[in-house]
Amino acid sequence: MKNKTVLIIGGAGFIGINNADYLLSRKYNVILADNLSRNGSALNLEWLRKKWGESFEFIKLDITVDKDKLDVLVAKVDAVYHFASQIAVTISVLNPMHDFMVNAMGTLNVLESIRNSQNKPMLLFSSTNKVYGSMENLGIKPTGDGYRYESLQGINEIQLLDFHSPYGCSKGAADQYVRDYARVFGLKTVVFRQSCIYGTHQFGVEDQGWVAWFAISAILDRPITIYGDGHQSRDVLFVDDLCELYEMALRNISKLSGKTYNIGGGPINTLSVLGTIGRLERILGKKIQASFSDWRVGDQKVFISDVGLIAKDLGWRPTTNIDDGLKKVVNWAKKTKVIFEKLHG
Ligand SMILES: NC(=O)c1ccc[n+]([C@@H]2O[C@H](COP(=O)([O-])OP(=O)(O)OC[C@H]3O[C@@H](n4cnc5c(N)ncnc54)[C@H](O)[C@@H]3O)[C@@H](O)[C@H]2O)c1
Repeated sequence: MKNKTVLIIGGAGFIGINNADYLLSRKYNVILADNLSRNGSALNLEWLRKKWGESFEFIKLDITVDKDKLDVLVAKVDAVYHFASQIAVTISVLNPMHDFMVNAMGTLNVLESIRNSQNKPMLLFSSTNKVYGSMENLGIKPTGDGYRYESLQGINEIQLLDFHSPYGCSKGAADQYVRDYARVFGLKTVVFRQSCIYGTHQFGVEDQGWVAWFAISAILDRPITIYGDGHQSRDVLFVDDLCELYEMALRNISKLSGKTYNIGGGPINTLSVLGTIGRLERILGKKIQASFSDWRVGDQKVFISDVGLIAKDLGWRPTTNIDDGLKKVVNWAKKTKVIFEKLHG
């Protein structure tokens, strides 16, 4: 049987590069598309080239303007993973129009390329838990390791949508378009509402990618700022587990098509900000300098995914233990220290 060809849009970013590496190791034909706007993405691409040589294609494009290039690429693939995004809530507040153009309009461009193609490849879209907003109707309680829900283990897909922040709105609009294109146009699409993903090749910054940002700051001996009280909690998912799931989704798209799934580490992989700092300090054997500042817009006090639906439909569950995942991030950050010094001055 011919190996499948996949297009990864936003393929040089954190999740994209890990997904490309995973799929190349499983003999897929891989095409990456990215505008390389994210600091670190060009370095990720260099790393993948060193590892895999010419065995994948890279096309520089911007999903907001290069619709013609998208049309050409979409026409030759079996599957599209769409990860290209403006990813920071903070930046979306500073420039909502740009955020909308990339996240909402850019996604519509991807959908239209697929709708107008002959082959109509499947589409997996990475959405976000931010589409659920702050869920103020749910009681939360403090625990020894951050906030938890009073009467729930995690949030399932029935939770009401309540887009919060321009980022929440633009990703939420895209999330609904992707779902609707399955319903109205019969495309094979699936939406993954992802919680916090962490792992190697994540060039985390203060605005986004906090687990990596803490590890990088610690390696550089830089102080970090904790926005809020530090008890905010997230279920975290190691990127390798996510890549395994992405590939399962591709093989089982007829089962998943038209559906939306909450994807994260689930209740057993939930950490508070302060708890994460404590674990990193133990792994690094040193103290991380931190100070506190006000809560940021759209920051949920707690978000924990209920991953029961994807477990039921695909039999997938996260398997990476948090400390093992954090150690991998720390080792990668140590190896990449010189690059961070250049990036962060
Ligand atoms: N990392 C997480 O914790 C997390 C959580 C929830 C959802 N997500 C979603 O997963 C996806 C990937 O996230 P990531 O962490 O890998 O982010 P990332 O910033 O590392 O990767 C995104 C990539 O998209 C590229 N890009 C940005 N704008 C583009 C444009 N206009 N045209 C083409 N390429 C463009 C960037 O250069 C970058 O390489 C995003 O859609 C994000 O919203 C991520």
